Amino acid sequence: MASLTRTLPASWYCSSLLYQLERRAVFMKAWYLLGPVTRFNVVGERVVYEIAQISVTACRMSGASIDIKVFDESTGVEFKSHITGTGLVFSTISEDAPSFDDFFPDLQPLINTVDFTKLPYRRSIKYEGKFNWKTMVDGYQECLHCQYTHPSFSVFYPPTFYTVYNHKNFSQHVADPKKSGDGLFLYFFPNCTLNVYGGGMSSFRVCPTEKPGITRMEFDYYHLETGDKFEEYFKFVRQVAMEDYELCEKAQENLEKGIYTEGILNPVKETGVAFYQQRVLDLVCAQHESETQSPPNIVHDGDHRNTMTASQLVEPASS
Ligand SMILES: [Fe+2]
Repeated sequence: MASLTRTLPASWYCSSLLYQLERRAVFMKAWYLLGPVTRFNVVGERVVYEIAQISVTACRMSGASIDIKVFDESTGVEFKSHITGTGLVFSTISEDAPSFDDFFPDLQPLINTVDFTKLPYRRSIKYEGKFNWKTMVDGYQECLHCQYTHPSFSVFYPPTFYTVYNHKNFSQHVADPKKSGDGLFLYFFPNCTLNVYGGGMSSFRVCPTEKPGITRMEFDYYHLETGDKFEEYFKFVRQVAMEDYELCEKAQENLEKGIYTEGILNPVKETGVAFYQQRVLDLVCAQHESETQSPPNIVHDGDHRNTMTASQLVEPASS
């Protein structure tokens, strides 16, 4: 049993100080999927995002070429962004992020096989849920829950064939190897996804708020069809999303009760969870180590300075 991977402790899902450390260690140093280029079809339209309390504006600058720039909404400073050859737009939210190729060194071969520019943008929705951002990512990164939580989804994408391939800073989920072009699910560390299934495509972002137990979910939907055919797809994928939402709120209740502290992960079916949790653990510990040696000079974070001690990092914050 000793060799089995353990989960992050429950306290990491409930602590404001831990979230502020995650913000500096994970979120400020990451790249984010803003969407396929079809999200930015209107020249001059500002598409606004908020990730880890940083407001970001993306805008298509000209119609002649796919020229999309991303700015810090509060300062107007341009952030590093990248458009892949098959039409996915990524951005940073801080100067602390590495280059795109350093962050995703082996993403290009996979996404070069899929044309993400075919499906027009149709709709976005967002709402808050009572769960930590990692509670939702935990659920996304495994499909053990699919059969009983998503009965309608499991009919079309049986968990029998479900496989997760982990790469540096992203995971590829394949629902059925025989259905190429459908049932492709991509997770981009730390909080973005792209989901091609049910005849359409959706992208969602799991956006942490300053409260560790509250997360804002943002969904963008893409589909060739409008009208009833799009609504039929929308209803199907919304059903799956709401089933996950309810599961996450219940899981978070248990995490906050203080009874559960940590568990073990299935070495075959939960490799996606183990992979991303290890990234969080490594980055947070490295950040804590560097800040312990050299405290950060945080201008904007005022009340949120990292005051965690080494023991607080590993002990449940609520106990
Ligand atoms: Fe799910």
